[in-house]
Amino acid sequence: MAQIQYQFRKRDEYFTPSYAVYPIMKRLRPGAVIWCPFDTADSAYVKVFSRNGFRVIYGHIQTGQDFFQTDTPDCDYIISNPPYSLKNEVLERLYAIGKPFAMLINFQGIFDSQKRFQMFKERRVEMLWLSPRVAYMTEGRQPRQGVPFQSGYLCSGICENQLEFEYLDRQEKE
Ligand SMILES: C[S@@+](CC[C@H](N)C(=O)[O-])C[C@H]1O[C@@H](n2cnc3c(N)ncnc32)[C@H](O)[C@@H]1O
Repeated sequence: MAQIQYQFRKRDEYFTPSYAVYPIMKRLRPGAVIWCPFDTADSAYVKVFSRNGFRVIYGHIQTGQDFFQTDTPDCDYIISNPPYSLKNEVLERLYAIGKPFAMLINFQGIFDSQKRFQMFKERRVEMLWLSPRVAYMTEGRQPRQGVPFQSGYLCSGICENQLEFEYLDRQEKE
């Protein structure tokens, strides 16, 4: 497994509001097992999936589960919002694992990187675009003021089409 030195970066510490979990959840097989590798018990993914009949396995660097050092659990999907500073490394490992995945990421410049371009050229990739922009939460669980970028789910093996679109319903709760 890749040796990646964990470094705390403030820009990685933005959290997903629960309404952003629903568009991906409706594309999953009911009752499936989902690994959320960048999540604690407080994560909207863990709460929304668990309350909707999925079995969730989760872990986070702060609770000692480094995604790059953890063996892949027996699961059907890998879904989360990953640390953006490690986007390439996360995608590389996900493709190497080979299970269906969906990662909520900043779509700006997603094809700019040569490394990612090559990955997407060789492997199956799907984009689930969301509107309006997702307002991530800060560590105090407050919605971030102003939403500077467009994000969506970068998936493989989950969406039927390579480009899909969903409106977000900000009223949807955990
Ligand atoms: C963008 S945040 C999203 C958190 C959560 N998934 C959510 O959607 O609310 C990414 C999180 O991954 C954590 N993280 C960073 N490197 C990690 C690693 N190697 N393994 C597991 N978690 C990591 C960060 O500390 C951060 O809290």
